[in-house]
Amino acid sequence: DETPSAALPQMGFNNWNSTHCRAEFDEAMIRGIADKFISLGLRDAGYQYVNIDDCWANWQRDKDGRLQPNPKRFPSGIAALADYIHERGLKFGLYSSAGTSTCEPLQENRGFPGGLGHEKEDAKTFASWHVDYLKYDNCNNQKIDAKKRYTAMAEALRNSGRQIFYSMCEWGENKPWLWAGKDPVDAGSWRTTGDISDNYASMLKIFKENVVLDKYASLGHWNDPDMLEVGNGGMTDVEYRSHFSLWSIMAAPLLIGTDLRTIKPDALKILLNKDVIAIDQDPLGVQGKQVRDADGIHVIVKPLKDGGRAVAVFNEGDKAKAVTVTAAEIGLKAGGSYTMRDLWAHTDAKGDGSIKTTLGPHATVMYRISQ
Ligand code: DGJ
Repeated sequence: DETPSAALPQMGFNNWNSTHCRAEFDEAMIRGIADKFISLGLRDAGYQYVNIDDCWANWQRDKDGRLQPNPKRFPSGIAALADYIHERGLKFGLYSSAGTSTCEPLQENRGFPGGLGHEKEDAKTFASWHVDYLKYDNCNNQKIDAKKRYTAMAEALRNSGRQIFYSMCEWGENKPWLWAGKDPVDAGSWRTTGDISDNYASMLKIFKENVVLDKYASLGHWNDPDMLEVGNGGMTDVEYRSHFSLWSIMAAPLLIGTDLRTIKPDALKILLNKDVIAIDQDPLGVQGKQVRDADGIHVIVKPLKDGGRAVAVFNEGDKAKAVTVTAAEIGLKAGGSYTMRDLWAHTDAKGDGSIKTTLGPHATVMYRISQ
């Protein structure tokens, strides 16, 4: 009864949070990122997908109606890029929108072609390019029913002749957690919120919106609170550790959003924390549940396959706070004896299942508690 790793929250990289549409987003960058997956130990830590976002496409489809890449950014073509990534034991993800065009550019009166009404031919094109993953955005959707639009691409991907992970980027507008994980959409993940930006207030807001949706997540079907900002410079390391802890205990997709070619050691250390990654990737496949949300303190508990529990305690406020979490609150019986592993200090201690700590502003402690 092994859990297939494909059913666990996806891990990888996407360029959007670091480059947006800027010219530095091109094939040389993405190849460099794939190389870094290996040299920095990210592949070994479980990161698998190298995904590209909006602005990869050319303004027009070709004469046969096929999507084509922007020749300046991707002169070697998308299939060559996918092959480069596959040769390194990684997988490749592409982007489109369930609309007449994608989201960018915001100001100009033209856009990159979207998938609406082109689902079958585009899915075939993706398969022919050896694409493993599609992020499907929601811009320019002509107000057509979301379930209808996302079903059309889901079916096209299933009939494309290739296994393609389906990442829905509908921003939570039509409560996708109620339908996107089921037939006929059967998406691997769905965005639950608007876009994250690289600051604490944004991360906090998105966390609060996503944490209450735990009951809708299951193996192969995840809530997606958007990609990671760790390393982009707009938060402190304490805040980035909270960001990574909270996303992991929520079993969120872990998509790195910073340029790995220039990442600082402290940020890399956060992304490579194997104790925390193991919580995100735990094969039981349950999103952590918030058991306390009071006075700016959040306690989230995630049951684990080995019978243990992960617990994150997060102080959203600007003042340090002393916090006690009882064993009962974590769902453990009183009077037990447990091994309590601190997932940021990487130390084990014996304990009774309760946590007593003082949390600095915006800080999180995270434990793995086992019998
Ligand atoms: C909106 C999405 O939510 C973002 O993640 C990103 O893909 C942009 N669109 C690209 O235009």
